[in-house]
Amino acid sequence: VKKFTTASFLEAKKKGEKISMLTAYDYSTAKLLDDAGIDSLLVGDSLGMVMLGYANTLQVTVDDIIHHCKAVARGAQRAMVIGDMPFLSYHISVEESVRNAGRLIQEGNAHAVKLEGGEEIIDKVKAIVRAQIPVIAHLGLTPQSVNLLGGFKVQGKSEEQARKIIRDALLLQEAGAFAIVLECVPELLAKMITEKLDIPTIGIGAGKYCDGQVLVTQDMFGMFSDFKPKFVKQYAQLGGIIQEACRQYIEEMKAMTFPAKEHTFAMDEEILAKL
Ligand code: KIV
Ligand code: NA
Repeated sequence: VKKFTTASFLEAKKKGEKISMLTAYDYSTAKLLDDAGIDSLLVGDSLGMVMLGYANTLQVTVDDIIHHCKAVARGAQRAMVIGDMPFLSYHISVEESVRNAGRLIQEGNAHAVKLEGGEEIIDKVKAIVRAQIPVIAHLGLTPQSVNLLGGFKVQGKSEEQARKIIRDALLLQEAGAFAIVLECVPELLAKMITEKLDIPTIGIGAGKYCDGQVLVTQDMFGMFSDFKPKFVKQYAQLGGIIQEACRQYIEEMKAMTFPAKEHTFAMDEEILAKL
């Protein structure tokens, strides 16, 4: 199969073809999404919330991302696998940032890494790209800044915020990022940024004009009920399907209609009689 690469991202933007991205955290889901034709799989630090049950993404570690990245990489034939750099893994020094990004590639088998932030992290983005590691940036609502932002809120509604996001996007492009995730920014600001940039934008809660879209898989399959952001569309209600199947299983095993004959191994009666 022809792999979806960083070059494919830029090619897609040039041709006006939309880029699809979903999160994945495990082998079997990655395989399903890859078979369905997804362009890229993000091992997001959202795994802290949807898979590990934390209240935010701040407790996720580089080792957590590597562990899940390896599983996703084994399930992805065509899709590009992106490892999310967790909180504090690219904030302390340029050296630590390159080392941690390198671990996601070398140990996690990711093809690229994603970092949150703009101007503040430009030196890290440049150094990681110099180490030959493709970088996706992430602007707007950056969940690792939740304590500074005072919650998960739309970003870029004021002139000052909007100007900063535009400036950051251009700086990140110049620093060598090959794409930028725009999270929770007004649709027309995302459109303006998308038109200004040569590299593609991937939106989440950023409207239809981005060059691609990303969603958290558990959200879009209706498997995560702790809360539902405004920008999520549930393409299936798997939560209900899973619970109904579970109820049926409990009922049938209690009624001894499961396991049935076809699920059972037989034994030679003569041998049985000798025991
Ligand atoms: O961690 C994540 O899932 C993300 C996406 C929402 C972009 O960063
Ligand atoms: Na993330």
